[in-house]
Amino acid sequence: MTLQFSLASAHPETVETPCVVVGVYENGLLTSAAARIDSAADGAIKRQVESGDINGKAGSTTVLFAPAGVTAQRVLVVGLGSQKTFDAARFQKVNIEAARALGGLPLESAVSWLADIDVPGRDASWRVRTAALASDYAAYRYTATVKPRNPGKQPQFASLAFAAGAEAQTGLDQAVAIAEGVRFARELANLPPNICNPVYIAEQAKAFADAHDKVGCLVLDEVEMEKLGFGSLLAVGRGSANKPRLIALEYRGGAEDEKPYAFVGKGVTFDAGGISLKPGPGMDEMKFDMGGAAGVLGGFVSAVKMGLPLNLVCVVPSVENMPDGDSYRPGDVLTSLSGQTIEVLNTDAEGRLILCDALTWTAQTFQPRAIIDAATLTGACVIALGKHASGLMSKHDDLAAELLAAGEAALDRAWRLPLWDDYQVQLDSTFADFANIGGKSAGAITAGCFLSRFTDGQRWAHLDIAGTAWDEGRKGMATGRPVALLAQWLIDRTEK
Ligand code: BES
Ligand code: MN
Ligand code: ZN
Repeated sequence: MTLQFSLASAHPETVETPCVVVGVYENGLLTSAAARIDSAADGAIKRQVESGDINGKAGSTTVLFAPAGVTAQRVLVVGLGSQKTFDAARFQKVNIEAARALGGLPLESAVSWLADIDVPGRDASWRVRTAALASDYAAYRYTATVKPRNPGKQPQFASLAFAAGAEAQTGLDQAVAIAEGVRFARELANLPPNICNPVYIAEQAKAFADAHDKVGCLVLDEVEMEKLGFGSLLAVGRGSANKPRLIALEYRGGAEDEKPYAFVGKGVTFDAGGISLKPGPGMDEMKFDMGGAAGVLGGFVSAVKMGLPLNLVCVVPSVENMPDGDSYRPGDVLTSLSGQTIEVLNTDAEGRLILCDALTWTAQTFQPRAIIDAATLTGACVIALGKHASGLMSKHDDLAAELLAAGEAALDRAWRLPLWDDYQVQLDSTFADFANIGGKSAGAITAGCFLSRFTDGQRWAHLDIAGTAWDEGRKGMATGRPVALLAQWLIDRTEK
């Protein structure tokens, strides 16, 4: 469950709560809320600053228990770093650390003044939204296949109020909806591949549609896709006992005759590489190869929960890429749904082979106003941009600008790579219209170039989230990116 969020209009020194949360900058500079507590409590915060117990380092936390003169049972003092350089990213960080600290205390609720801090260029609504999303992010626990680490003796932190005016209500409402989308994406992506297979994702999509009035769901199985000519997608799925699915969710929040926006997400529930088998170390992380699917589904959930006045479709091609006697092979020539033939030079470049048919089908079926795909598509994108920015590719400068701006606003940033035709020759093939890989250089871009051949005449952008969809390593979990970016982009479309 997401945390419960609300707005509070109160004074920090007199609010009735198990805990108030206030910020202190480096060098002992108090925020106005901290100053009010400090003077009511006879200098309790300043004393700890002078003793060095509170240093104001960004994200540091200190608990004062039952300080005399204030109503709250505790005061959680959160370090904000230097005031001069305080920015949006720091704002997010301190809210995450505050929520972590609250989660470790024996209490169920708190009132936070951390949405009350000035952030250059951002208003109160943004601050409340970002603080709530950061808190919910920190509060998320994966428990589907593992027992909670500290089983339930102490009270569970469950609700957080932010001191802010009524003008922040929009931000709070958006946060509640987007937090659900982010959780949906994280949970789906974190599930192991022996649970989360193509049929499982289809069931989750159907269940969501059944629970929501304006949402419909269509699922194509392998027999139906065969009839329609999904030759590229089906080839990838052939080596697995878990059969492919094409999943489409439709949300009608806009006018009947209005064309929808479309999301398409790569749903490879496990990518072993196929016959071009991946090396063993870290292969388990390829359960996250449906991160694009999780991200677009989470974006869809957010849009529905916000009740945005627009039409939206979300299409997920889902397969498992495995080595087997029936697997597709390097050298195979596939006929895609578009009719174009593809020479397979590496069965590990499978994401583009399922996305291409999904993009063709989405364009034909819905004539969308714009198509955004998200995919954990290339290791090359991780080399280029690391874990901080998703790779954005589009031939449409206006659409690219919209997405970059949405990423900035939502702190879920993307960075643009070129999709110039100069790169297209890298896909040349003697035996088919083109090949599925483009050689050593510019791997993220040539993957984008491959997809561009299936989006002719469409207003289309591609997000390579290979570096951003999960935190790597033994303890790494799904991040829920790019749900916040997609949700923000849709919000922006409704404000036009
Ligand atoms: N799912 C991978 C991309 C990936 C790799 C994402 C590592 C995150 C971390 C994709 O299907 C893949 O294997 N891509 C190949 C393409 C290559 C064969 C042209 C890659 O990036 O190595
Ligand atoms: Mn692969
Ligand atoms: Zn893959």
